[in-house]
Amino acid sequence: MKRAIIIGASSGIGKELALILANKNYTVGITGRKAQKLLEVKNTNPSRFIVKPFDCTTENNSEKLTDLVNEIGGLDLLIMSSGTGDDVALDYSQDQKTIQLNVLAFTEIMNWAFNFFKDQGHGHITAISSVAGLRGSKYAPSYFASKAFQINYLESLRKLAKNNIYITDVRPGYVDTAMALGDNLFWVASKEKAAKQIYRSIEKKRDVVYITKRWRLIAWALKLVPYWIYKWL
Ligand SMILES: NC(=O)c1ccc[n+]([C@@H]2O[C@H](COP(=O)([O-])OP(=O)(O)OC[C@H]3O[C@@H](n4cnc5c(N)ncnc54)[C@H](OP(=O)(O)O)[C@@H]3O)[C@@H](O)[C@H]2O)c1
Repeated sequence: MKRAIIIGASSGIGKELALILANKNYTVGITGRKAQKLLEVKNTNPSRFIVKPFDCTTENNSEKLTDLVNEIGGLDLLIMSSGTGDDVALDYSQDQKTIQLNVLAFTEIMNWAFNFFKDQGHGHITAISSVAGLRGSKYAPSYFASKAFQINYLESLRKLAKNNIYITDVRPGYVDTAMALGDNLFWVASKEKAAKQIYRSIEKKRDVVYITKRWRLIAWALKLVPYWIYKWL
């Protein structure tokens, strides 16, 4: 039996991944701020889930995660799905929230998980970054910058990782959740489809995966387009 923790399992992509892992016989520690939503997930398969609500931006994440590992009896996979952002540019109070979760809490959690798996000699970290992390944007500067931070942080962890430690960077385009930012959405995946593709990429221990797969094309175009063109888009 395998053991996983999902941070941000109360809704969206994290919740769908929690349901899949439970069906695949994982014991899953689920977190997020909304205890009631987490209990609803637990009620779908009570013996598979341990609920531990906490706010990653105000609590001691390392302590909470260590407690949760003890409760589920070990850890093979940690999924970081918690994230926040808004498409209001240059609202400093929103920017602070974005940075507190997507950068500061993310870093603390990645540190904790990497060191835990290093000491243990094996383990798998999966984090949901975004296609948004590939270039800047006038709509949500702090969100796009925070996702760039995550992408580079995960790449650095992959360079540090030795045998039996895997780091999967999941880069969605648009997924049908509260976090799908903007007015002109396209190629929007359902949460279910996104979670299935993410689960398969975890099984295959992929380094980087685009969700859905066709977003690789957008990523490729974004990386190729020169700045003097990109700045007018
Ligand atoms: N949907 C998209 O189009 C899209 C595209 C690219 C990337 N992403 C990324 O995918 C990830 C998952 O988002 P989603 O689309 O599934 O949206 P979502 O349904 O809004 O999920 C966000 C999750 O983050 C948790 N969260 C927010 N603030 C938190 C905090 N302070 N402490 C702990 N947990 C917190 C929420 O739980 P509580 O509210 O219970 O705390 C929720 O479970 C995010 O990192 C997002 O940036 C999404």
